[in-house]
Amino acid sequence: MTSFDPELSPRRAARAEAERRATAAVAVVPPTEPSPTRRLRREDTASPRRGPVRWASRPRRVRRRLAALALGLTVVVAGALAVGIATAGGASTPLAAPEAAARVGPPPVPAEGLPVPVLAEAPAPKSPCDDPSFTSVLATGDDTATIAAIGGAAAFRAAVASGIAPCVSLSDPNREWVVVNKKRPFDPADYRPGDIVMPDDVRALKESGLRRTAADALTALVRGAADAGAGEIGYLSAFRSYENQQSTYADRVSVSGVEEADRESARAGFSEHQSGLAVDIVPCDGSCGTLDDVAASSQGAWVRDHAWEYGYITRYDVGRIDVTGYEPEAWHLRYIGPELAKAYHDGGFTTLEEFFGLPAAPTY
Ligand code: DAL
Ligand code: ZN
Repeated sequence: MTSFDPELSPRRAARAEAERRATAAVAVVPPTEPSPTRRLRREDTASPRRGPVRWASRPRRVRRRLAALALGLTVVVAGALAVGIATAGGASTPLAAPEAAARVGPPPVPAEGLPVPVLAEAPAPKSPCDDPSFTSVLATGDDTATIAAIGGAAAFRAAVASGIAPCVSLSDPNREWVVVNKKRPFDPADYRPGDIVMPDDVRALKESGLRRTAADALTALVRGAADAGAGEIGYLSAFRSYENQQSTYADRVSVSGVEEADRESARAGFSEHQSGLAVDIVPCDGSCGTLDDVAASSQGAWVRDHAWEYGYITRYDVGRIDVTGYEPEAWHLRYIGPELAKAYHDGGFTTLEEFFGLPAAPTY
């Protein structure tokens, strides 16, 4: 009896040899070779034309390029998704350029040796300083018209804080948006505004005036407090010249020493009082109280909530010495105009430095 031996069948032997060769070819990809992406692998197994044999049989140079291309595409898609998510998250609030950059984060850094993905760059925000219809209004010195020309106080603030409006100077002491602090002295140091007047119908404990617009706003504020039943508001000090501030600061130093004086009084050339836009109020009830009485008074409570409606802000707020360099002063009101004061209030700001995107100024 003859037994059947498949090894003796030429057809089966040929098929077995073909299968052995195919298996050997699958194992050709060496562990040190760049691994094709998951997508390429799936395509490899799904299509006989792109099977593993075909991948492995490609020249090493081609395989490297394909792998790098696939990884590059992955980075581009991931970057685009990240930008899309960040944009969707802030869709209701247009961000100024630096704010947007902070929200979105830095672009992805491609791995070494991979092609650098080219992301489409967003067009640079248009500067209002390139717009003659804005710069011509700015040049008139009319603060209200300037803010209107840029689209309102929120737009003005955003443009200035983002740095796209370098033609708007926060150092110009003639503008209501001037910022004076321990890092930003007056230039010239002995600057003196030209339109200081005494406000109408306000009890002044000293012969100390304000710039015309701030004076009229104080008159309205004092009337508003009285009409609301908050009581009478008077004031102790408003405009102080460079020389006046010199003696004010020196007095403070002689009482408390330099360290404490610097937390309570500005050095000459660094005080907002020199701008003619700041006023120290006091509560009056028959006679007037002191600066220290403001915080706990009905007048102080009303001013905290309503001063912004008249263009004033509480400049040295509670707990912000880290930015302003000063202990809280419930009595020190600073005029920035009703439009900016509303934006300040609506935005929940507590320092003028943060409002305009300026660095903190805790020390000289
Ligand atoms: N008391 C404030 C900081 C000033 O002297 O201007
Ligand atoms: Zn003051």
